[in-house]
Amino acid sequence: MGVAAHLGIRLAEYDRRIRTFIPDYDEMLDVAAAAVPARARMLVDLGIGTGALAARCLKIAPRARIVGIDVDPEILTMAARRFRDRATLAAGTFLRTPLPSCDAVVASFALHHVRTRAAKAALYRRVRAALRPRGLFVSVDCQPARDPAVRRVQRDAWLAHLRRSYTATQATKLLAAWSREDVYVPLDSEFALMRRCGFRVEVLWRRGSFAVLRGAR
Ligand SMILES: C[S@@+](CC[C@H](N)C(=O)[O-])C[C@H]1O[C@@H](n2cnc3c(N)ncnc32)[C@H](O)[C@@H]1O
Repeated sequence: MGVAAHLGIRLAEYDRRIRTFIPDYDEMLDVAAAAVPARARMLVDLGIGTGALAARCLKIAPRARIVGIDVDPEILTMAARRFRDRATLAAGTFLRTPLPSCDAVVASFALHHVRTRAAKAALYRRVRAALRPRGLFVSVDCQPARDPAVRRVQRDAWLAHLRRSYTATQATKLLAAWSREDVYVPLDSEFALMRRCGFRVEVLWRRGSFAVLRGAR
């Protein structure tokens, strides 16, 4: 399913609507980009979308080239307009597309599309193998708490964010639709998974259901 159908929007609206869907979207992308080494020459963005994270990374690492992978060719046309010759864009799944040797791999709100822990582990091992010495993996995603009571509070905070732009019914329907299609791995499990795949992991940012994680090679 393409991004527009998954989110129930027109693709041209993506950059505006994503902020109505995800609380603290800009803050999280800023934190993730700030973790990228300024010396980086090659960055890979998994599920690059329109390129919001990659664009921020280029401000931090101005000599870098971007390789952006996305399964939705339509959204890649928007990324292509944004980056022109600064990026190489590959249409396909990051679960199979070969990853070039690079200084950092970044991903924002893309890895919850990976359906199983085994597939995620296989991806993380490939990510680690692609990283050069001192390379980093930075992931921004929904990683809720394990405790059901805390998880409920986090969900209510997400609903409150949605309620700024949508009715209560619409907000509840949006979360229900996404949670049928997306896999939100609890933060402690995601941390452990990255560690098992060989990363030294740090939580760079945490608020509500969302987190920015850094894995050092
Ligand atoms: C919610 S969007 C996030 C886009 C962008 N990273 C951002 O932060 O705005 C998720 C993106 O991941 C892409 N995606 C989902 N599964 C994928 C896969 N297996 N391989 C490559 N891209 C994938 C979607 O097409 C979509 O562009």
